[in-house]
Amino acid sequence: MVSRPTTVGLVFGGCSGEHEVSIRSAATVLGGLRSGDNRQRYRVIPFYIDREGRWWGEDLADRVLATQKPIDQPDPVEARGFRGLPEGSETVQVWYPVLHGPNGEDGTVQGLFQLMRQPFVGAGVLGSAVSMDKLAMKAAFAGVGLSQVPYVGLHASDLHDSARRERVLERIEAELDYPCFVKPANLGSSVGISKVRNRHELEAGLDKAAQLDPRLVVEEGVSARELECAVLGRDQLRSSVVGEVRFDADWYDYTTKYTAGLSTTVIPAELPDGVAERVQKQSLEACAALGVIGMARVDFFYDNTSQQLWINEINTLPGFTSQSMYPMLWEASGVTLDQLVHKLVQSAGE
Ligand SMILES: Nc1ncnc2c1ncn2[C@@H]1O[C@H](COP(=O)(O)OP(=O)(O)O)[C@@H](O)[C@H]1O
Ligand SMILES: [Mg+2]
Repeated sequence: MVSRPTTVGLVFGGCSGEHEVSIRSAATVLGGLRSGDNRQRYRVIPFYIDREGRWWGEDLADRVLATQKPIDQPDPVEARGFRGLPEGSETVQVWYPVLHGPNGEDGTVQGLFQLMRQPFVGAGVLGSAVSMDKLAMKAAFAGVGLSQVPYVGLHASDLHDSARRERVLERIEAELDYPCFVKPANLGSSVGISKVRNRHELEAGLDKAAQLDPRLVVEEGVSARELECAVLGRDQLRSSVVGEVRFDADWYDYTTKYTAGLSTTVIPAELPDGVAERVQKQSLEACAALGVIGMARVDFFYDNTSQQLWINEINTLPGFTSQSMYPMLWEASGVTLDQLVHKLVQSAGE
């Protein structure tokens, strides 16, 4: 018996600094959903969220996918944001968000699908929201005893009056050694992050991050390799082989991440015995601690000399371009792109 194809609503773009990466990820996911056995299994309707947060149906979404370029509509300011679902959405049976960063990876869109009582791919509201906010994420990791680099959390308002500002600067310098990394808690793709080496740079880094987010993190810098592990599943999560990101730069900043040729991936990472197993185990523990299901990429720092492993972060909608770590880790683990997107749709829940 031939069963009817399932209609998948692929949602991409989004009101986030990672809008353009999302367009590239969506093209890869769409390619996977339209190849091999998936051609019979799925009918895909793409939906595009523009940079103002407005949702558009298949015609415009197809154009964005074909050109791989955002479309900005000259609509009035009062029409910004979500104003209802576009035509075609009533036939969708499973939603597949391919949105990176705020307004998509953070539980907001997941909340919409939950309210609609329709299944969707990836983590739910809690796992998405906690994973997006570096302070909430670190607290949850600490709660289950996962090793992390030392850090101090603060609020942008701590920087406003000079006495409070001095107190918080002193606290950071007492608890952490330079160099430090100053980060806005809720962005991604290294946006707003500074590596700082002294008080002057620390203040500049904090003021810059505070323009982007009221919640801030300062971390002690480690000189370490960067390892990544992919997770997939629903009731029973699975972890992939472990990969390493290598780059010819001081740290993995935005330009290094998104300029072709500036970074390379090594899959599987060449590691001493037992390290990959530690990464895989801790990746699953991290997902359990944050309530993350469906899909995640968990990132670590690893120091060769001391063999120390620190969890860095979890991404619930990791980059999914053809060059991205998440699909490549699964490919190396024996799961091809079309099998991977099929498994992800199968793992969708309400
Ligand atoms: N504590 C740290 N020690 C060393 N490098 C760091 C540290 N924190 C961040 N980095 C560098 O900055 C990059 C981006 O930081 P990360 O916390 O992963 O932010 P994002 O969520 O934007 O990816 C990391 O991949 C790493 O190269
Ligand atoms: Mg990162």
